[in-house]
Amino acid sequence: MSSPTPTITINGVRRPFSPGQTILQVANAAGVEVPQYCYHDGLSVVASCRICLCEVWSPNPRTGALEPFMGGKLVPSCQQTASDGMVVHTDSPKAVANQKAVMEYLLINHPLDCPVCDQSGECFLQDYSYQYGRGVSRFQEEKVKQPKKDLGNHVLLYSDRCIMCTRCVRFTREVTGTGELMVMGRGNKEEIDVFPGIPINNELSGNVIDLCPVGALLDKDFLFQQRVWYLKETPSIDPITASGDNIWIHHNEGKIHRVKPRENPRVNKWWITDEVRYGWKFVHSADRLGAPARKQYGYPAQSDFPRAYEIAVAGLRRAVEDGGRVALLASPMIACEEAYLLAQVVREIDREAVLAVGPVPVKGSDRVYPPGASEDDPRAFKVHAEKAPNARGVRRVLEALAGPGQVLDFEAFLRAMGKGTGSSGVRAALVTGNYPSAWTTPELLGCLGGKFIVAIDTLAGPHVDAADISLPAATFAEKSGTFENARGMIQSFERALTAFEGARPEGQIAFDLLHLIACGGEYERAGATRPEVYDAADIRSRMAAEHETLGVFASAVGHPAPRPQARPDMRLVEI
Ligand code: SF4
Ligand code: FES
Repeated sequence: MSSPTPTITINGVRRPFSPGQTILQVANAAGVEVPQYCYHDGLSVVASCRICLCEVWSPNPRTGALEPFMGGKLVPSCQQTASDGMVVHTDSPKAVANQKAVMEYLLINHPLDCPVCDQSGECFLQDYSYQYGRGVSRFQEEKVKQPKKDLGNHVLLYSDRCIMCTRCVRFTREVTGTGELMVMGRGNKEEIDVFPGIPINNELSGNVIDLCPVGALLDKDFLFQQRVWYLKETPSIDPITASGDNIWIHHNEGKIHRVKPRENPRVNKWWITDEVRYGWKFVHSADRLGAPARKQYGYPAQSDFPRAYEIAVAGLRRAVEDGGRVALLASPMIACEEAYLLAQVVREIDREAVLAVGPVPVKGSDRVYPPGASEDDPRAFKVHAEKAPNARGVRRVLEALAGPGQVLDFEAFLRAMGKGTGSSGVRAALVTGNYPSAWTTPELLGCLGGKFIVAIDTLAGPHVDAADISLPAATFAEKSGTFENARGMIQSFERALTAFEGARPEGQIAFDLLHLIACGGEYERAGATRPEVYDAADIRSRMAAEHETLGVFASAVGHPAPRPQARPDMRLVEI
Protein backbone atom coordinates (compact mmCIF):
# COMPACT_ATOMS: atom_id res chain seq x y z
CA MET A 1 0.00 0.00 0.00
CA SER A 2 1.31 3.49 -0.84
CA SER A 3 2.38 5.65 2.09
CA PRO A 4 0.37 8.95 2.47
CA THR A 5 3.42 11.02 1.43
CA PRO A 6 5.11 9.39 -1.54
CA THR A 7 8.78 8.60 -1.05
CA ILE A 8 11.70 7.31 -3.04
CA THR A 9 14.87 5.83 -1.65
CA ILE A 10 18.07 7.48 -2.88
CA ASN A 11 21.32 5.73 -1.97
CA GLY A 12 19.63 3.94 0.95
CA VAL A 13 17.77 6.96 2.44
CA ARG A 14 14.02 7.51 2.01
CA ARG A 15 13.14 10.94 0.65
CA PRO A 16 9.61 12.39 0.42
CA PHE A 17 8.64 14.11 -2.82
CA SER A 18 5.78 16.01 -4.43
CA PRO A 19 4.10 14.37 -7.44
CA GLY A 20 5.67 15.61 -10.66
CA GLN A 21 9.16 16.08 -9.26
CA THR A 22 11.99 14.37 -11.09
CA ILE A 23 14.47 12.13 -9.28
CA LEU A 24 17.14 14.84 -9.65
CA GLN A 25 14.86 17.52 -8.18
CA VAL A 26 14.18 15.27 -5.17
CA ALA A 27 17.92 14.65 -4.76
CA ASN A 28 18.81 18.35 -5.14
CA ALA A 29 16.15 19.37 -2.60
CA ALA A 30 17.47 16.79 -0.13
CA GLY A 31 21.08 17.87 -0.65
CA VAL A 32 22.11 14.54 -2.23
CA GLU A 33 24.91 15.29 -4.64
CA VAL A 34 24.24 14.05 -8.16
CA PRO A 35 26.51 15.38 -10.93
CA GLN A 36 24.58 17.45 -13.50
CA TYR A 37 25.46 19.78 -16.37
CA CYS A 38 22.56 20.33 -18.72
CA TYR A 39 19.82 20.46 -16.07
CA HIS A 40 18.75 23.84 -14.67
CA ASP A 41 15.63 24.57 -12.61
CA GLY A 42 14.73 27.52 -14.86
CA LEU A 43 15.06 25.74 -18.23
CA SER A 44 13.48 22.85 -20.11
CA VAL A 45 14.91 19.35 -19.62
CA VAL A 46 16.98 17.96 -22.51
CA ALA A 47 18.87 15.19 -20.69
CA SER A 48 21.78 15.54 -23.10
CA CYS A 49 24.90 15.54 -20.95
CA ARG A 50 24.16 12.05 -19.49
CA ILE A 51 26.21 12.52 -16.34
CA CYS A 52 23.19 12.34 -14.00
CA LEU A 53 22.28 8.80 -15.10
CA CYS A 54 21.34 6.53 -12.21
CA GLU A 55 20.29 2.96 -11.55
CA VAL A 56 16.58 2.69 -10.70
CA TRP A 57 14.44 -0.12 -9.33
CA SER A 58 10.69 0.20 -9.05
CA PRO A 59 7.94 -1.92 -7.43
CA ASN A 60 5.97 -4.17 -9.76
CA PRO A 61 2.37 -2.83 -9.57
CA ARG A 62 0.97 -6.36 -9.36
CA THR A 63 3.37 -8.16 -7.03
CA GLY A 64 5.00 -5.19 -5.25
CA ALA A 65 8.42 -6.83 -5.79
CA LEU A 66 11.28 -4.48 -6.78
CA GLU A 67 12.34 -4.88 -10.40
CA PRO A 68 14.94 -3.12 -12.53
CA PHE A 69 13.31 -0.04 -14.09
CA MET A 70 13.46 0.29 -17.90
CA GLY A 71 14.92 -3.20 -18.18
CA GLY A 72 17.91 -2.21 -16.06
CA LYS A 73 19.16 0.58 -18.33
CA LEU A 74 20.62 3.64 -16.60
CA VAL A 75 18.03 6.43 -16.38
CA PRO A 76 18.56 10.21 -16.66
CA SER A 77 17.56 11.40 -13.18
CA CYS A 78 16.88 14.93 -14.50
CA GLN A 79 14.16 13.60 -16.81
CA GLN A 80 12.63 10.68 -14.92
CA THR A 81 9.74 11.63 -12.64
CA ALA A 82 9.85 10.06 -9.20
CA SER A 83 7.21 7.49 -8.36
CA ASP A 84 6.34 6.09 -4.97
CA GLY A 85 8.56 3.25 -3.80
CA MET A 86 11.33 3.74 -6.38
CA VAL A 87 14.80 2.79 -5.25
CA VAL A 88 17.54 4.92 -6.85
CA HIS A 89 21.30 4.41 -6.81
CA THR A 90 23.56 7.22 -7.93
CA ASP A 91 26.58 5.62 -6.32
CA SER A 92 26.29 2.04 -7.58
CA PRO A 93 29.19 0.61 -9.65
CA LYS A 94 27.10 0.96 -12.83
CA ALA A 95 26.17 4.62 -12.14
CA VAL A 96 29.73 5.52 -11.13
CA ALA A 97 31.16 3.82 -14.25
CA ASN A 98 28.88 6.04 -16.36
CA GLN A 99 29.93 9.19 -14.49
CA LYS A 100 33.59 8.35 -15.12
CA ALA A 101 32.93 7.58 -18.78
CA VAL A 102 31.09 10.88 -19.33
CA MET A 103 33.89 12.80 -17.63
CA GLU A 104 36.52 11.09 -19.75
CA TYR A 105 34.52 11.87 -22.89
CA LEU A 106 34.01 15.54 -21.97
CA LEU A 107 37.69 16.03 -21.18
CA ILE A 108 38.92 14.53 -24.47
CA ASN A 109 38.93 17.87 -26.24
CA HIS A 110 38.79 20.17 -23.25
CA PRO A 111 41.94 22.30 -22.90
CA LEU A 112 43.92 22.03 -19.67
CA ASP A 113 43.83 25.76 -19.08
CA CYS A 114 42.38 25.96 -15.58
CA PRO A 115 45.24 28.20 -14.40
CA VAL A 116 44.13 30.97 -16.78
CA CYS A 117 40.39 30.29 -16.84
CA ASP A 118 38.03 32.73 -15.07
CA GLN A 119 35.70 29.85 -14.15
CA SER A 120 38.42 28.03 -12.25
CA GLY A 121 37.30 27.56 -8.66
CA GLU A 122 33.60 27.57 -9.52
CA CYS A 123 33.67 25.19 -12.49
CA PHE A 124 31.47 22.09 -12.53
CA LEU A 125 33.86 20.36 -14.92
CA GLN A 126 36.76 20.99 -12.57
CA ASP A 127 34.77 19.84 -9.51
CA TYR A 128 33.42 16.69 -11.13
CA SER A 129 36.80 15.93 -12.61
CA TYR A 130 38.18 15.73 -9.08
CA GLN A 131 35.22 13.70 -7.85
CA TYR A 132 34.43 11.43 -10.79
CA GLY A 133 37.28 11.81 -13.26
CA ARG A 134 40.30 9.61 -13.94
CA GLY A 135 43.68 10.64 -12.64
CA VAL A 136 45.25 10.42 -16.12
CA SER A 137 44.10 10.88 -19.68
CA ARG A 138 44.17 7.94 -22.11
CA PHE A 139 43.66 10.24 -25.07
CA GLN A 140 46.72 10.31 -27.34
CA GLU A 141 45.33 11.99 -30.44
CA GLU A 142 45.42 15.69 -31.09
CA LYS A 143 42.70 17.74 -29.38
CA VAL A 144 40.23 19.58 -31.62
CA LYS A 145 40.95 23.31 -31.39
CA GLN A 146 38.07 25.72 -31.58
CA PRO A 147 37.99 29.51 -31.79
CA LYS A 148 37.36 32.28 -29.28
CA LYS A 149 34.39 34.42 -30.30
CA ASP A 150 33.00 37.81 -29.38
CA LEU A 151 29.26 37.12 -29.03
CA GLY A 152 27.98 40.49 -27.83
CA ASN A 153 28.50 43.56 -25.69
CA HIS A 154 29.17 41.54 -22.55
CA VAL A 155 29.77 37.95 -23.61
CA LEU A 156 32.86 36.14 -24.91
CA LEU A 157 32.89 32.48 -25.99
CA TYR A 158 35.95 30.23 -25.62
CA SER A 159 34.53 27.46 -27.80
CA ASP A 160 37.03 24.77 -26.90
CA ARG A 161 35.89 24.82 -23.26
CA CYS A 162 32.23 24.23 -24.20
CA ILE A 163 30.68 20.89 -23.17
CA MET A 164 27.59 21.46 -25.33
CA CYS A 165 25.07 21.39 -22.49
CA THR A 166 22.93 23.92 -24.46
CA ARG A 167 21.85 25.79 -21.32
CA CYS A 168 22.79 29.09 -23.01
CA VAL A 169 20.85 28.25 -26.19
CA ARG A 170 17.75 27.27 -24.21
CA PHE A 171 17.96 30.49 -22.17
CA THR A 172 17.78 32.68 -25.26
CA ARG A 173 14.89 30.63 -26.63
CA GLU A 174 12.86 30.00 -23.48
CA VAL A 175 13.52 32.98 -21.19
CA THR A 176 14.30 36.00 -23.36
CA GLY A 177 12.59 34.61 -26.47
CA THR A 178 15.31 36.29 -28.54
CA GLY A 179 17.01 33.11 -29.76
CA GLU A 180 20.37 34.61 -30.66
CA LEU A 181 22.38 31.48 -29.82
CA MET A 182 22.48 28.20 -31.72
CA VAL A 183 24.46 24.99 -32.03
CA MET A 184 26.41 24.90 -35.29
CA GLY A 185 28.13 21.86 -36.79
CA ARG A 186 28.19 18.18 -35.78
CA GLY A 187 30.17 15.81 -33.59
CA ASN A 188 33.45 17.14 -32.28
CA LYS A 189 33.09 20.15 -34.62
CA GLU A 190 29.92 21.32 -32.85
CA GLU A 191 30.11 24.94 -31.70
CA ILE A 192 27.86 27.47 -30.03
CA ASP A 193 27.48 30.56 -32.18
CA VAL A 194 25.28 33.55 -32.90
CA PHE A 195 23.42 33.97 -36.14
CA PRO A 196 25.41 36.11 -38.60
CA GLY A 197 25.12 39.80 -37.76
CA ILE A 198 22.91 39.19 -34.68
CA PRO A 199 25.03 39.43 -31.52
CA ILE A 200 23.62 38.46 -28.14
CA ASN A 201 22.78 41.92 -26.85
CA ASN A 202 19.39 41.35 -25.24
CA GLU A 203 18.92 43.05 -21.87
CA LEU A 204 19.33 39.79 -19.95
CA SER A 205 22.37 38.58 -21.91
CA GLY A 206 24.71 38.29 -18.91
CA ASN A 207 22.68 35.40 -17.50
CA VAL A 208 24.15 33.01 -20.09
CA ILE A 209 27.53 33.57 -18.41
CA ASP A 210 26.11 32.41 -15.06
CA LEU A 211 24.37 29.47 -16.72
CA CYS A 212 27.51 28.14 -18.40
CA PRO A 213 28.71 25.34 -16.09
CA VAL A 214 32.25 25.65 -17.47
CA GLY A 215 34.43 28.57 -18.53
CA ALA A 216 33.16 28.76 -22.11
CA LEU A 217 30.97 31.85 -21.77
CA LEU A 218 32.86 34.65 -20.09
CA ASP A 219 32.01 38.09 -18.83
CA LYS A 220 34.09 40.75 -20.62
CA ASP A 221 33.75 42.97 -17.59
CA PHE A 222 35.21 40.34 -15.23
CA LEU A 223 37.76 38.82 -17.61
CA PHE A 224 41.05 38.14 -15.76
CA GLN A 225 40.03 40.52 -12.95
CA GLN A 226 40.10 38.18 -9.94
CA ARG A 227 40.55 34.55 -8.98
CA VAL A 228 37.12 33.66 -7.67
CA TRP A 229 38.43 32.12 -4.45
CA TYR A 230 39.51 35.59 -3.31
CA LEU A 231 35.97 36.95 -3.65
CA LYS A 232 33.66 37.39 -0.68
CA GLU A 233 29.91 37.46 -1.32
CA THR A 234 27.32 39.63 0.37
CA PRO A 235 23.56 39.34 -0.24
CA SER A 236 22.01 42.54 -1.50
CA ILE A 237 19.08 43.99 -3.45
CA ASP A 238 19.05 45.64 -6.87
CA PRO A 239 19.90 49.26 -6.04
CA ILE A 240 18.88 50.96 -9.29
CA THR A 241 15.44 49.72 -10.39
CA ALA A 242 12.08 49.05 -8.71
CA SER A 243 12.27 45.29 -9.34
CA GLY A 244 13.88 44.37 -6.01
CA ASP A 245 15.97 41.70 -7.75
CA ASN A 246 18.00 39.65 -5.30
CA ILE A 247 21.74 39.85 -5.97
CA TRP A 248 25.10 38.77 -4.63
CA ILE A 249 27.82 41.40 -4.45
CA HIS A 250 31.18 39.73 -5.08
CA HIS A 251 33.97 41.87 -3.67
CA ASN A 252 37.54 41.78 -2.50
CA GLU A 253 39.72 44.29 -0.65
CA GLY A 254 37.04 47.00 -0.63
CA LYS A 255 36.22 46.74 -4.33
CA ILE A 256 33.20 45.24 -6.09
CA HIS A 257 34.27 42.91 -8.89
CA ARG A 258 30.94 41.60 -10.09
CA VAL A 259 27.25 41.25 -9.27
CA LYS A 260 25.42 37.93 -9.71
CA PRO A 261 21.74 37.00 -9.39
CA ARG A 262 20.62 35.49 -6.07
CA GLU A 263 17.87 32.92 -6.60
CA ASN A 264 14.45 34.00 -5.36
CA PRO A 265 11.46 32.31 -7.04
CA ARG A 266 9.10 35.06 -5.83
CA VAL A 267 11.09 37.95 -7.28
CA ASN A 268 13.72 37.46 -9.96
CA LYS A 269 13.85 33.65 -10.22
CA TRP A 270 17.47 32.97 -11.28
CA TRP A 271 18.04 36.05 -13.43
CA ILE A 272 18.96 39.75 -13.43
CA THR A 273 19.13 42.32 -16.20
CA ASP A 274 22.47 43.58 -17.51
CA GLU A 275 21.45 46.97 -16.15
CA VAL A 276 21.51 45.57 -12.61
CA ARG A 277 24.54 43.33 -13.25
CA TYR A 278 26.75 46.21 -14.36
CA GLY A 279 24.95 49.07 -12.59
CA TRP A 280 27.28 49.14 -9.56
CA LYS A 281 30.11 51.11 -11.21
CA PHE A 282 29.10 54.40 -9.56
CA VAL A 283 30.23 52.92 -6.22
CA HIS A 284 33.84 53.34 -7.38
CA SER A 285 33.29 56.51 -9.43
CA ALA A 286 36.01 59.16 -9.49
CA ASP A 287 33.23 61.68 -8.73
CA ARG A 288 32.48 60.27 -5.26
CA LEU A 289 32.23 62.94 -2.56
CA GLY A 290 34.86 62.27 0.09
CA ALA A 291 34.59 65.21 2.50
CA PRO A 292 31.95 67.61 3.82
CA ALA A 293 31.98 71.11 2.34
CA ARG A 294 30.51 74.45 3.32
CA LYS A 295 29.87 77.45 1.15
CA GLN A 296 32.37 80.28 1.59
CA TYR A 297 32.21 83.44 -0.51
CA GLY A 298 29.81 81.63 -2.82
CA TYR A 299 32.05 78.60 -3.38
CA PRO A 300 32.23 75.18 -1.68
CA ALA A 301 35.19 74.87 0.70
CA GLN A 302 36.27 71.59 2.29
CA SER A 303 35.17 71.22 5.89
CA ASP A 304 34.89 68.48 8.49
CA PHE A 305 31.84 66.70 9.87
CA PRO A 306 31.58 68.47 13.28
CA ARG A 307 31.79 71.95 11.73
CA ALA A 308 29.50 71.05 8.83
CA TYR A 309 26.92 69.54 11.19
CA GLU A 310 26.95 72.65 13.41
CA ILE A 311 26.41 74.97 10.44
CA ALA A 312 23.69 72.67 9.07
CA VAL A 313 21.72 72.56 12.33
CA ALA A 314 22.13 76.31 12.87
CA GLY A 315 20.94 77.09 9.33
CA LEU A 316 17.90 74.83 9.55
CA ARG A 317 16.97 76.31 12.94
CA ARG A 318 17.37 79.87 11.70
CA ALA A 319 14.84 79.18 8.94
CA VAL A 320 12.23 78.24 11.55
CA GLU A 321 13.13 81.13 13.86
CA ASP A 322 12.59 83.48 10.91
CA GLY A 323 9.08 82.07 10.53
CA GLY A 324 9.73 79.75 7.59
CA ARG A 325 9.38 76.02 7.05
CA VAL A 326 12.03 73.30 6.67
CA ALA A 327 11.66 70.61 3.97
CA LEU A 328 13.12 67.16 3.45
CA LEU A 329 13.57 65.74 -0.04
CA ALA A 330 14.13 62.04 0.70
CA SER A 331 15.57 60.24 -2.30
CA PRO A 332 13.93 56.99 -3.50
CA MET A 333 17.50 55.60 -3.64
CA ILE A 334 18.01 55.56 0.14
CA ALA A 335 16.89 52.86 2.60
CA CYS A 336 13.57 53.01 4.48
CA GLU A 337 15.41 53.26 7.81
CA GLU A 338 17.41 56.25 6.59
CA ALA A 339 14.34 58.10 5.33
CA TYR A 340 12.74 57.55 8.74
CA LEU A 341 15.73 58.99 10.62
CA LEU A 342 16.17 61.96 8.27
CA ALA A 343 12.46 62.79 8.67
CA GLN A 344 13.01 62.78 12.42
CA VAL A 345 15.87 65.26 11.99
CA VAL A 346 13.73 67.83 10.17
CA ARG A 347 10.70 67.21 12.41
CA GLU A 348 12.93 67.76 15.46
CA ILE A 349 13.72 71.23 14.11
CA ASP A 350 10.32 72.01 12.57
CA ARG A 351 7.27 70.04 13.83
CA GLU A 352 5.50 70.80 10.54
CA ALA A 353 8.41 70.22 8.21
CA VAL A 354 7.46 69.45 4.61
CA LEU A 355 8.26 65.84 3.67
CA ALA A 356 8.74 64.86 0.04
CA VAL A 357 10.01 61.96 -2.08
CA GLY A 358 12.76 62.79 -4.58
CA PRO A 359 12.42 62.32 -8.35
CA VAL A 360 11.63 58.76 -9.48
CA PRO A 361 13.27 58.19 -12.88
CA VAL A 362 11.28 56.19 -15.44
CA LYS A 363 12.83 54.79 -18.64
CA GLY A 364 10.49 53.46 -21.32
CA SER A 365 7.81 51.05 -20.17
CA ASP A 366 7.67 47.76 -18.25
CA ARG A 367 8.61 44.64 -20.22
CA VAL A 368 7.89 40.96 -19.59
CA TYR A 369 10.07 38.08 -20.84
CA PRO A 370 9.58 35.96 -22.83
CA PRO A 371 7.72 38.47 -25.00
CA GLY A 372 3.99 37.83 -24.89
CA ALA A 373 4.09 36.00 -21.54
CA SER A 374 1.68 37.08 -18.84
CA GLU A 375 3.15 38.60 -15.69
CA ASP A 376 1.59 35.82 -13.61
CA ASP A 377 3.31 33.09 -15.59
CA PRO A 378 5.63 31.41 -13.06
CA ARG A 379 8.52 31.55 -15.55
CA ALA A 380 7.97 35.19 -16.63
CA PHE A 381 10.62 37.79 -15.82
CA LYS A 382 9.63 41.46 -15.58
CA VAL A 383 11.90 44.40 -16.31
CA HIS A 384 10.68 47.54 -14.55
CA ALA A 385 10.75 50.94 -16.22
CA GLU A 386 10.96 52.64 -12.82
CA LYS A 387 14.63 53.26 -12.07
CA ALA A 388 14.62 53.69 -8.29
CA PRO A 389 14.68 50.85 -5.74
CA ASN A 390 12.67 52.36 -2.92
CA ALA A 391 10.10 55.02 -3.92
CA ARG A 392 7.34 53.07 -2.14
CA GLY A 393 9.36 52.36 1.01
CA VAL A 394 10.44 55.98 1.44
CA ARG A 395 6.84 57.17 0.95
CA ARG A 396 5.58 54.53 3.41
CA VAL A 397 7.85 55.72 6.26
CA LEU A 398 7.33 59.42 5.56
CA GLU A 399 3.55 58.93 5.55
CA ALA A 400 3.76 57.18 8.92
CA LEU A 401 5.20 60.45 10.29
CA ALA A 402 3.26 63.02 8.26
CA GLY A 403 -0.03 61.21 7.73
CA PRO A 404 -1.53 59.63 4.59
CA GLY A 405 -1.56 61.94 1.58
CA GLN A 406 0.70 64.47 3.31
CA VAL A 407 3.93 63.47 1.57
CA LEU A 408 4.73 65.45 -1.56
CA ASP A 409 6.06 64.03 -4.78
CA PHE A 410 8.92 65.79 -6.56
CA GLU A 411 6.68 68.07 -8.64
CA ALA A 412 4.73 69.19 -5.57
CA PHE A 413 8.02 69.70 -3.71
CA LEU A 414 9.25 72.01 -6.48
CA ARG A 415 5.99 73.95 -6.27
CA ALA A 416 6.26 74.21 -2.47
CA MET A 417 9.85 75.40 -2.79
CA GLY A 418 8.89 77.87 -5.48
CA LYS A 419 6.29 79.61 -3.32
CA GLY A 420 8.97 81.97 -2.04
CA THR A 421 10.43 82.53 1.38
CA GLY A 422 7.45 84.31 2.92
CA SER A 423 6.26 83.61 6.43
CA SER A 424 4.91 80.13 5.65
CA GLY A 425 7.27 79.35 2.77
CA VAL A 426 10.09 76.83 2.79
CA ARG A 427 13.32 78.57 3.79
CA ALA A 428 15.60 75.59 4.27
CA ALA A 429 15.81 72.08 2.89
CA LEU A 430 17.66 68.85 3.47
CA VAL A 431 18.13 67.28 0.03
CA THR A 432 19.32 63.69 -0.47
CA GLY A 433 20.45 62.02 -3.70
CA ASN A 434 22.41 58.73 -3.95
CA TYR A 435 21.44 58.29 -7.62
CA PRO A 436 23.86 56.29 -9.80
CA SER A 437 24.31 59.25 -12.17
CA ALA A 438 23.66 62.99 -12.46
CA TRP A 439 20.12 63.83 -11.37
CA THR A 440 19.91 67.59 -10.76
CA THR A 441 17.29 69.31 -12.92
CA PRO A 442 17.28 73.04 -13.81
CA GLU A 443 13.93 73.31 -11.96
CA LEU A 444 15.46 71.91 -8.77
CA LEU A 445 18.49 74.19 -9.03
CA GLY A 446 16.21 77.16 -9.62
CA CYS A 447 14.08 76.55 -6.54
CA LEU A 448 17.03 75.87 -4.22
CA GLY A 449 18.29 79.42 -4.82
CA GLY A 450 17.89 81.84 -1.90
CA LYS A 451 17.29 79.07 0.65
CA PHE A 452 19.53 77.34 3.14
CA ILE A 453 20.37 73.96 1.62
CA VAL A 454 22.00 70.89 3.16
CA ALA A 455 22.81 68.35 0.43
CA ILE A 456 23.60 64.73 1.32
CA ASP A 457 24.83 62.87 -1.73
CA THR A 458 27.34 60.38 -3.11
CA LEU A 459 28.37 62.00 -6.41
CA ALA A 460 29.34 65.56 -7.22
CA GLY A 461 26.74 67.68 -9.00
CA PRO A 462 25.50 71.26 -9.45
CA HIS A 463 23.09 71.04 -6.48
CA VAL A 464 25.99 69.91 -4.27
CA ASP A 465 28.06 72.90 -5.41
CA ALA A 466 25.10 75.19 -4.78
CA ALA A 467 24.42 73.83 -1.26
CA ASP A 468 25.38 75.74 1.89
CA ILE A 469 26.52 72.46 3.39
CA SER A 470 27.24 69.20 1.56
CA LEU A 471 27.76 65.87 3.30
CA PRO A 472 29.24 62.80 1.54
CA ALA A 473 27.02 59.73 1.72
CA ALA A 474 27.58 55.98 1.41
CA THR A 475 26.19 53.89 -1.48
CA PHE A 476 23.93 50.83 -1.10
CA ALA A 477 26.99 48.53 -0.99
CA GLU A 478 28.42 50.38 1.99
CA LYS A 479 25.44 50.12 4.34
CA SER A 480 22.51 47.92 5.30
CA GLY A 481 18.80 48.65 5.11
CA THR A 482 15.57 47.72 3.35
CA PHE A 483 14.04 48.56 -0.02
CA GLU A 484 10.37 48.11 -0.99
CA ASN A 485 9.99 46.98 -4.58
CA ALA A 486 7.27 47.69 -7.16
CA ARG A 487 5.23 44.72 -5.87
CA GLY A 488 5.29 46.02 -2.28
CA MET A 489 7.81 43.45 -1.04
CA ILE A 490 10.14 44.82 1.63
CA GLN A 491 13.56 43.16 1.46
CA SER A 492 16.68 43.73 3.48
CA PHE A 493 20.22 44.10 2.15
CA GLU A 494 23.54 43.89 3.91
CA ARG A 495 26.71 45.98 3.90
CA ALA A 496 29.42 44.59 1.62
CA LEU A 497 32.12 47.27 1.80
CA THR A 498 33.33 49.73 4.39
CA ALA A 499 32.14 53.21 3.43
CA PHE A 500 34.16 55.18 0.90
CA GLU A 501 36.76 57.19 2.80
CA GLY A 502 35.14 60.32 4.22
CA ALA A 503 31.56 59.21 3.47
CA ARG A 504 28.88 58.07 5.92
CA PRO A 505 25.50 56.34 5.43
CA GLU A 506 22.58 58.79 5.42
CA GLY A 507 21.30 56.89 8.49
CA GLN A 508 24.51 57.70 10.39
CA ILE A 509 24.41 61.33 9.26
CA ALA A 510 20.84 61.50 10.60
CA PHE A 511 21.92 60.06 13.95
CA ASP A 512 24.82 62.54 14.13
CA LEU A 513 22.46 65.45 13.44
CA LEU A 514 19.87 64.20 15.98
CA HIS A 515 22.62 63.96 18.59
CA LEU A 516 23.79 67.48 17.86
CA ILE A 517 20.23 68.84 18.01
CA ALA A 518 19.75 67.11 21.38
CA CYS A 519 22.98 68.76 22.58
CA GLY A 520 21.77 72.25 21.70
CA GLY A 521 23.49 72.43 18.32
CA GLU A 522 27.08 72.70 19.55
CA TYR A 523 29.61 69.95 19.95
CA GLU A 524 31.19 71.73 22.91
CA ARG A 525 28.00 71.15 24.88
CA ALA A 526 27.85 67.49 23.86
CA GLY A 527 30.67 66.63 26.29
CA ALA A 528 31.48 62.94 26.24
CA THR A 529 28.14 61.78 24.81
CA ARG A 530 28.26 60.08 21.45
CA PRO A 531 25.66 59.73 18.66
CA GLU A 532 23.98 56.36 18.19
CA VAL A 533 25.53 54.06 15.63
CA TYR A 534 23.34 53.33 12.60
CA ASP A 535 22.10 49.75 12.65
CA ALA A 536 19.29 49.06 10.19
CA ALA A 537 17.83 46.12 12.15
CA ASP A 538 17.57 48.29 15.28
CA ILE A 539 15.84 51.09 13.40
CA ARG A 540 13.34 48.63 11.91
CA SER A 541 12.35 47.44 15.40
CA ARG A 542 12.06 51.05 16.53
CA MET A 543 9.93 52.03 13.51
CA ALA A 544 7.56 49.11 14.12
CA ALA A 545 7.26 49.94 17.82
CA GLU A 546 6.68 53.67 17.30
CA HIS A 547 4.17 53.52 14.42
CA GLU A 548 1.45 50.94 13.96
CA THR A 549 1.53 51.45 10.19
CA LEU A 550 5.20 50.48 10.15
CA GLY A 551 4.55 47.11 11.86
CA VAL A 552 5.50 45.46 8.54
CA PHE A 553 9.13 46.26 9.32
CA ALA A 554 8.95 43.79 12.21
CA SER A 555 6.79 41.16 10.56
CA ALA A 556 7.10 41.21 6.78
CA VAL A 557 10.70 41.93 5.80
CA GLY A 558 12.28 39.39 3.47
CA HIS A 559 15.79 38.53 4.61
CA PRO A 560 18.43 36.70 2.55
CA ALA A 561 18.35 32.94 3.10
CA PRO A 562 21.58 31.71 4.70
CA ARG A 563 23.95 30.08 2.22
CA PRO A 564 24.58 26.39 2.99
CA GLN A 565 28.06 26.03 4.45
CA ALA A 566 30.45 24.31 2.06
CA ARG A 567 32.06 21.22 3.51
CA PRO A 568 35.78 20.75 2.80
CA ASP A 569 36.53 17.65 0.71
CA MET A 570 39.71 16.95 2.61
CA ARG A 571 40.18 16.15 6.25
CA LEU A 572 41.73 19.19 7.91
CA VAL A 573 44.85 18.34 9.85
CA GLU A 574 46.22 20.66 12.48
CA ILE A 575 49.94 21.22 12.00
S1 SF4 B 1 28.75 27.62 -23.94
FE1 SF4 B 1 28.50 26.91 -21.83
S2 SF4 B 1 26.28 27.00 -21.49
FE2 SF4 B 1 26.59 27.10 -23.70
S3 SF4 B 1 26.46 24.97 -24.38
FE3 SF4 B 1 28.62 25.40 -24.01
S4 SF4 B 1 28.98 24.72 -21.91
FE4 SF4 B 1 26.76 24.91 -22.16
S1 FES C 1 21.77 16.66 -16.08
FE1 FES C 1 20.69 14.88 -16.63
S2 FES C 1 21.39 14.43 -18.58
FE2 FES C 1 22.35 16.32 -18.10
